[in-house]
Amino acid sequence: METKIVEIEESKVKEKAAEALLKEAGAVLKEGGLVAFPTETVYGLGGDALNKESSCKIYAAKGRPSDNPLIVHICKWEDIYPIVSEVSEEAKKIAEAFWPGPLTMILPKSDLVPYETTGGLDTVAVRMPSHKVAQKLIEYAGGYVAAPSANTSGKPSPTQARYVAEDMDGKIEMIIDGGEVGIGLESTIIDLTVKPPQILRPGFITQEMLSEVLGDVEADVTILNGDSGQAPKAPGMKYRHYAPKGDLTIVTGPQDKVVEYINSEVSKAMLAGEKTGVIGTEEVLDKYHAQVVKSVGSRDDELSIGRHLYTILREFDDEDVTRIFSESFETEGFGQAIMNRLLKAAGHKVVRL
Ligand code: TXA
Ligand code: MG
Repeated sequence: METKIVEIEESKVKEKAAEALLKEAGAVLKEGGLVAFPTETVYGLGGDALNKESSCKIYAAKGRPSDNPLIVHICKWEDIYPIVSEVSEEAKKIAEAFWPGPLTMILPKSDLVPYETTGGLDTVAVRMPSHKVAQKLIEYAGGYVAAPSANTSGKPSPTQARYVAEDMDGKIEMIIDGGEVGIGLESTIIDLTVKPPQILRPGFITQEMLSEVLGDVEADVTILNGDSGQAPKAPGMKYRHYAPKGDLTIVTGPQDKVVEYINSEVSKAMLAGEKTGVIGTEEVLDKYHAQVVKSVGSRDDELSIGRHLYTILREFDDEDVTRIFSESFETEGFGQAIMNRLLKAAGHKVVRL
């Protein structure tokens, strides 16, 4: 299959040319095809959420196990009613506070949503993205777009269209290039079918922000804990996602000790013939001796760290780095999402100094 790649800037969605392309993309989705598109979190791989064949195609294109449910994306509030069996007060409250935006809620599904989309579950994940390109595409596609991150299963989620093309070229009808995404980590997922509501995947909307609106909110224990002995509640979180090809270790402790330890391990690894890499922060970057040293951003700017993490993991793959060390980050606020993804990428391998 030939994949058509088009560019649409978020600020230009209302222009005629963009509108024509978005209508074309919407038609592709209505006909059962797949279109990758930008959102404020990461690129999504869209298909018609109410068409089971489309969902099956999504699993095939990603090489994703079909027990791992998809998120249904909508573009206006009323559209939630036909796809869920009950809209709780809690759902209304958090939609009011955080939609459109990087938040996904789990609710009981209605019969309209095929089990192929929900991975066999009786619940459905629903999200209303704030990205204008995504919103228009959903509208032109008929209102319901199932979209996992647009990566091959097991790779970091794509933050730029070129990474989507790397994984999806030839497998899907169309890719909409909307430039680099803003957040860079996937949406927060909150399960509203349990009491108290539970965060299954941390993201830009933090536990603190959700608690302000809902009161008591729990976080799945597996989010930061690799040996809790429990299975994560979001089926997708049990897979070792976001894995770079190189072996990744996180090092935590006082900053100077971390730099010293990483440099000594880097020297050993280089002697053993490994190509070494470091994920460091701006403040101490020039102290590292590895062959490839990447800045994930400044410690003072968590948003930049979130935005750069997946891009850096992909770059290490491109540069065939075999041994990677990373600094560690705070686990409060948005840091919970950053450390959750980093720990998964490292298979929870952490050295504490
Ligand atoms: O930011 C995002 O959410 C991106 C963009 C494209 O919107 N999408 C995304 O989708 O990250 P995906 O498929 O890569 O991740 C969806 C996660 C998986 O871990 C899946 O297991 C979980 O959501 N999930 C989906 N439906 C669920 C359900 N009914 N119950 C529990 N977990 C669910
Ligand atoms: Mg994903």
